[in-house]
Amino acid sequence: ELATSSGTLINIKSFKKLGARNLNSHKGTHGKLLCVGGNEGTAGAIRLSSEAALRAGAGMVKVYTHSSSVVPVSIGRPELMVTSTNLKEALEWASCVVIGPGLGQDEWAQKTFEEVIYYCQTNNMPLVIDADALNLLAKQASSYTLKQCVLTPHPGEASRLLSKTIVDVESNRFENARLCAKRYNATCVLKGAGTLIDNAENTWVCKDGNAALAVGGSGDVLTGIIGALLAQGLNIDEAARYGVTLHAKAGDIASERDGQRGMLPSDLFSIVRQLLN
Ligand code: APR
Ligand code: MG
Repeated sequence: ELATSSGTLINIKSFKKLGARNLNSHKGTHGKLLCVGGNEGTAGAIRLSSEAALRAGAGMVKVYTHSSSVVPVSIGRPELMVTSTNLKEALEWASCVVIGPGLGQDEWAQKTFEEVIYYCQTNNMPLVIDADALNLLAKQASSYTLKQCVLTPHPGEASRLLSKTIVDVESNRFENARLCAKRYNATCVLKGAGTLIDNAENTWVCKDGNAALAVGGSGDVLTGIIGALLAQGLNIDEAARYGVTLHAKAGDIASERDGQRGMLPSDLFSIVRQLLN
């Protein structure tokens, strides 16, 4: 890892791979990830996260979603366990949680968000907060003291978390990633070209990635990858840094192969898998 004046450049080569799996490991060894999101009409977002998590090596992935999304999330991916009932039971089953993709901000979303945050905070469960869960967090910041959290805002979500304009966020990304980490007591992944990871003490910069990733759903894939790395035992900062780098590098490999235009976020799955093994 190379230090620059403003942060440490992260390089995928500097990460130890997760290592060979133990001969006698079983699905439970590799973690149980709960993915929460997918309100009516936005099932695709949580499907992308949960499928990415399987491809990034999580032992088991369960999805808690809106009742109308159970079928769309399950189609063609029977390895996912999908439920719209009994969130408490799903939380008790999990070893870490991802919340936000396709969550929405309606009453169902709000109730779901509150139950998940409360459970994760009181049980010290690693949590990745993305998308609409960040928008809900921004509305109610004062009532939560987060622990063991990764926040993955794009500049628009960061602007809401910090009550600033997007132009202000982008005009000093380093300062704002730090502010966000401090304000929410979390590791902040400020996305966009040159994604920053800040844990309120250190800043890391991802120099990989390209505009092939500028397509709807690619952030949802990142969220699932980070969740899977947490499930496999990386700590909050490692999962954020390694996840961002894997995702970016996968985008680079995809665009070297087929160009920047027309990449699907789901094209990243098989590449992420290769990079991890
Ligand atoms: N260079 C490098 N990386 C890029 C570039 C670029 N030019 N453009 C985008 N990316 C990467 C970002 O760093 C991030 O990892 O692609 C990902 C985009 O994530 P999001 O902005 O969250 O996009 P998306 O997946 O479409 O989000 C889906 O969730 O955040 C909400 O409002 C959002 O409804 C949308 C949904
Ligand atoms: Mg997003």
